[in-house]
Amino acid sequence: MAEKEFRTVKASQQVLKELMVPSYANFGGKVHGGQILSLMDKIAYTCAATHARCYCVTASIDSVDFLNPVEVGELLTLYASVNYVGKSSMEIGIKVVSEDFHNGIVKPTNTSYFTMVAVDEESRKPVPVPGLVLEDDAEIKRFLEGMMRRRFKRAYKDELREARRALDVDQDLERLQGENCRLVR
Ligand SMILES: CC(C)(COP(=O)(O)OP(=O)(O)OC[C@H]1O[C@@H](n2cnc3c(N)ncnc32)[C@H](O)[C@@H]1OP(=O)(O)O)[C@@H](O)C(=O)NCCC(=O)NCCS
Repeated sequence: MAEKEFRTVKASQQVLKELMVPSYANFGGKVHGGQILSLMDKIAYTCAATHARCYCVTASIDSVDFLNPVEVGELLTLYASVNYVGKSSMEIGIKVVSEDFHNGIVKPTNTSYFTMVAVDEESRKPVPVPGLVLEDDAEIKRFLEGMMRRRFKRAYKDELREARRALDVDQDLERLQGENCRLVR
């Protein structure tokens, strides 16, 4: 049997820089959130495919909080690293910052975690990925956090499924009191 392969975090780390041009703006004149998400998906793919050395798909994206608006004319920089690998999945941590050329101010834009899964290009079935070599405490911490997020997400999904199953419109009507809605049925 072939020996299991391991790759370092550094071997697949990525940096992507993109100038925010006017065509990226929304009606409010700021950069469209979807434009930033698209760049995040691009760097997540590059990072995952570099680690796995095969085709990957986006399985899920954790919540994305936009911390500061991004202006047209700013330089967006995205950083991506493999935090955690399972059997066929990889958690990619992404940090985004934007820089204003005029004053050199760099502000955090958002961070998120993408779960990418390595798949066979023909069958589209998940395939195993190399393990991760952890070289320092920061990498060990990120791996442990990735394990935690995976466990919490599964527990949250199970709990939500159970809560939805238990919902009863007639019995739960009183929970609408104080909510921003009006009943007209
Ligand atoms: C992601 C995908 C390949 C998973 O296939 P599957 O048959 O459900 O595979 P499995 O249940 O065996 O899961 C494989 C791995 O993916 C992970 N996974 C599957 N769905 C997931 C999800 N929604 N979120 C996070 N991880 C997920 C599993 O935990 C597992 O990880 P592991 O191998 O490290 O233990 C499949 O659901 C798919 O192709 N989805 C569409 C992806 C796509 O088109 N993305 C672009 C959207 S625009």
